[in-house]
Amino acid sequence: MVAERTRELTEAQEKLVRHEKLAVLGQLAGGVGHELRNPLGVINAAIYYLKTVQPDANEKIKQYHAMIEREVHNADKIIADLLDFARGVTAECKPVAIPELVQDVLERFPAPAAVHVSVEFPSDLPLVFADPRQVEQVLGNLVINACQAMKDGGKLTVDGGQLTVDGISWVRIAVKDTGTGITPENLKKLFEPLFTTKAKGIGLGLVVSKKLIEANGGRIEVESEAGKGSTFTLVLPVKEDKR
Ligand SMILES: Nc1ncnc2c1ncn2[C@@H]1O[C@H](COP(=O)(O)OP(=O)(O)O)[C@@H](O)[C@H]1O
Ligand SMILES: [Mg+2]
Repeated sequence: MVAERTRELTEAQEKLVRHEKLAVLGQLAGGVGHELRNPLGVINAAIYYLKTVQPDANEKIKQYHAMIEREVHNADKIIADLLDFARGVTAECKPVAIPELVQDVLERFPAPAAVHVSVEFPSDLPLVFADPRQVEQVLGNLVINACQAMKDGGKLTVDGGQLTVDGISWVRIAVKDTGTGITPENLKKLFEPLFTTKAKGIGLGLVVSKKLIEANGGRIEVESEAGKGSTFTLVLPVKEDKR
């Protein structure tokens, strides 16, 4: 009886601490994210200027330009997650063509050379009704995770199709990788804030992705096998449905 009560109290206590931590984290994330936007914008403008005035710079310098650009881009991505984690999201939905959006995502977040990428959608895929910026951010998160899970190379497949459930139409977008996969134990924690298995991870990507996709009337599903790979699937409402 005492043991039982003690366990309950400990659990309640842990829940409270977690809640408090998350509230503080939210505030901090929002503040830091906001403050970092400006300096990053300045660095971005500066590198753009340097590239313009030094079109004939030597290879080494060009490599450094590209490196700065890439890392600014990565930092920007983390900030977007911090801000979305901190604030409530509202989706500004409009008709969106998923195949085009996926191409944009793969241009913005290119897979490393060792990863073979293939994209496959039926030509008659209906438009979805969603916020294109938010869906792009979610797909970006999934593509980045997939590539990070395939450090030694592999195959990234983005495909999808139409899905009808109880007379309601949805579009399914699957991001598949042949990476490390996820253990059943970790699978349970994927959508917990700050859950990460990466040395430099922050563990907000999937939390934010879930929040954004749900704000768009959709959902996110995961299938994974340790050692084989993972598939993250987005399901979004088709444009015709007035929901
Ligand atoms: N495609 C994937 N393959 C294997 N593990 C993944 C994949 N996507 C997510 N994970 C696991 O989920 C964790 C949380 O992901 P995420 O929320 O994006 O945070 P982060 O990328 O900062 O670690 C990752 O650290 C990793 O362990
Ligand atoms: Mg991530």
